[in-house]
Amino acid sequence: MADLDKLTIEDKVRIISGLDTWHTVGVPAADVKSVLMSDGPHGLRLQVNEDGQTGDNLGFNGSAPATALPTGSALASTWNRELLAQTGNVIGREAAAHHVNVVLGPAVNIKRSPLGGRNFEYYSEDPYLVGELATAYINGLQAHQVGASIKHFALNNQETRRMNVNVHVDERTMHEIYLAGFKKAITTAKPWTVMTAYNRVNGEYASNSHLLLDILHKDWQYQGAVISDWTAVDDIIASLKAGLNIEMPGNQAVTPAIVKQALTDGSLTEAQLDAAIRPILRLAEQAATQAPTTAFDLAQQAQAAEAIASETTVLLKNDHQTLPLAADEKVLFIGEMLTKPRFQGGGSSHINAKYLTLIKPTLTATFSEANCQFLPGYQLDDTPDEQLIAEAVAAAKEVTKVVVFAGLPDKYESEGFDRKDIDLPSQQNRLISALAGVNNNVVVVLNNGAPVAMPWVDEVAAIIEAYLPGQAIGQVIPAILTGAINPSGKLAETFPRKLSDTPSYLNFPGTINDVYYGEGIYVGYRYYDAKAIAPLFAFGHGLSYTTFSYQDLVVTPNDSSLHVTATVKNTGQVAGKESIQFYVSDDSGQVTCPPKELKQFTKVSLEPGEAKQVTVEIPLADLAHYDVDAHAWQYTGGTHTIIMAASATDLRLRTTVTLPKIAKPALPVTIHTTIGQLLANEATKPTGMQIITGLAKAFGMDPNSDDSSSAGFDQATVLAMLNDLPIRALASFSAGAIGDTTVQTWIDQANDQIKSK
Ligand code: BGC
Repeated sequence: MADLDKLTIEDKVRIISGLDTWHTVGVPAADVKSVLMSDGPHGLRLQVNEDGQTGDNLGFNGSAPATALPTGSALASTWNRELLAQTGNVIGREAAAHHVNVVLGPAVNIKRSPLGGRNFEYYSEDPYLVGELATAYINGLQAHQVGASIKHFALNNQETRRMNVNVHVDERTMHEIYLAGFKKAITTAKPWTVMTAYNRVNGEYASNSHLLLDILHKDWQYQGAVISDWTAVDDIIASLKAGLNIEMPGNQAVTPAIVKQALTDGSLTEAQLDAAIRPILRLAEQAATQAPTTAFDLAQQAQAAEAIASETTVLLKNDHQTLPLAADEKVLFIGEMLTKPRFQGGGSSHINAKYLTLIKPTLTATFSEANCQFLPGYQLDDTPDEQLIAEAVAAAKEVTKVVVFAGLPDKYESEGFDRKDIDLPSQQNRLISALAGVNNNVVVVLNNGAPVAMPWVDEVAAIIEAYLPGQAIGQVIPAILTGAINPSGKLAETFPRKLSDTPSYLNFPGTINDVYYGEGIYVGYRYYDAKAIAPLFAFGHGLSYTTFSYQDLVVTPNDSSLHVTATVKNTGQVAGKESIQFYVSDDSGQVTCPPKELKQFTKVSLEPGEAKQVTVEIPLADLAHYDVDAHAWQYTGGTHTIIMAASATDLRLRTTVTLPKIAKPALPVTIHTTIGQLLANEATKPTGMQIITGLAKAFGMDPNSDDSSSAGFDQATVLAMLNDLPIRALASFSAGAIGDTTVQTWIDQANDQIKSK
């Protein structure tokens, strides 16, 4: 590794801030390479040309031709770790060839509300799914010796005031929902860098948050470099002390002087600065070991993009097998989004796709001219146009089936702002209902990055959620429509019936400066389950042109995991792939928790009639909950139900296991400990009973009687009443009969009992 001692103070104060939009500062004299970074999660957005630099972080300027892969929502719908690894591979190959050292992805923030402007880029509402997919992506990318930058750490779950909103989140929710996916990916795939978020978390900017960066460095033992999101640094000195390593993009005109001044006035020590620099030197070293340029072929990359996109489509509804379409059927294809498809997201993840394929030419090549007709149906900007609707309705009366291409045009969702509602453009909704009024076989194909309301859901025969599938859109959507590809995507997020059903409805996007995560751990399906609210389409839902049966669920606990086996059979007529989900419901009664949580998943490919055994392991550690008293994850065992499911609302098989109970480590007894807490712990129970007796005596009751008459001591009632009484209240509660010395004796005695257990 480059030698820290070879860096002058001048070098040191410069290296912690970027050189420009995409480079870090290199120090050739000390063998420190300048590292080149580039967006983004769904394809390379390289903005550095031969002559230098044409960069911006919001996607306004052009970038080198690259492969546009499906965006986060679509990728997550594959429920396929292998395809996420291939996504990393495709991007890694291009990045290595362009000498890009770090790719700014994956983007893994939790989808707290369907309104989130960057939801198209993020994976899921579920931290387990996020962690698994992000791990696979990072491994795929870093196999090319290109570093990942997992982002945005953390709690960047909205775009409204993203640069300064203060997220108020409780400790358990933060760990179980918002950090768990990061933790999994960071500790197992070890991304070269972590990108801090713009927002504040419980009062501190994420880029100088001791809370967050302590978790990352101390608890998770992260050794890589922590970089800021572009212009996220509020106070460089506080950031360096908290564990940030590089401020991006560069602020060479200002930052070095600030750091120098801090060294002079002692608000930053050289040792602290050195500690911030070490990970930068490691990163530069990793970048320097990148293999020499490997050529890549965009045409070949396009094939990989198509293979990945082929598992992203979610068939939401398919009444009386309206789909797939037969080549000899008379079909009317409607919608401006057919000819001007939205296949990718905006902002920093916008790709210059060289091999974009279009839907219409593929359809024209598949169906005979006499059998297919194309009409616009609506204007893309939602201007009402009665004539377009009338024309479409008239044509729909003459055909067997109608396929409407609908969705959210670019301006509806992007980095930098959130949606205000979950509605499709109104003219699209009007068109779909009008068509359904005259034709029973209306199929809706949706291109959007996040859930939309579907007021016509019961009127149409079939619905395809195609999300933003990348450049292969023109190959994949027609193939799904005709059955050349059997859909195997499943939703990685809940589609609500209406916005007011969503968990964060009352707290999104918050007030002027603050947002309160009032729904706590009840995010996504955890909330719909707990409140028994029926979603429009559930988390994990997705149909196929075939059907699957689930059998023989067997769960065998061992020392470290639950070994789960089951059989899945293709019971239909065509080959297909099925994602199987394993949820666990913690019935131990030891912790308050959501009715069930995803703990594993797997995907199988089956020929018609074929059955396969699936096997997964659920580590016992994954059954732990975050204990705020201990400030740690704690696994406590007890009864758990393992549910094998096709979606969060299509639960097929279940079995219950009873795991050895592990007592939570007892906390020291203080004046704030309640009598109930003393009684609940076997060790301190005798002290608890002694206090009850003491109180009974103080009130002139007979502690041994269970007579409920006024003179007697109805133990059950008194115990229930005293359960939540803190020890500090004993003196006044007993009107002085129990004195402070007695109270202190009981506290000491209880603590001794804990120690000697
Ligand atoms: C985005 C990041 C992106 C960076 C560089 C920021 O505005 O939030 O996700 O990687 O710009 O383009």
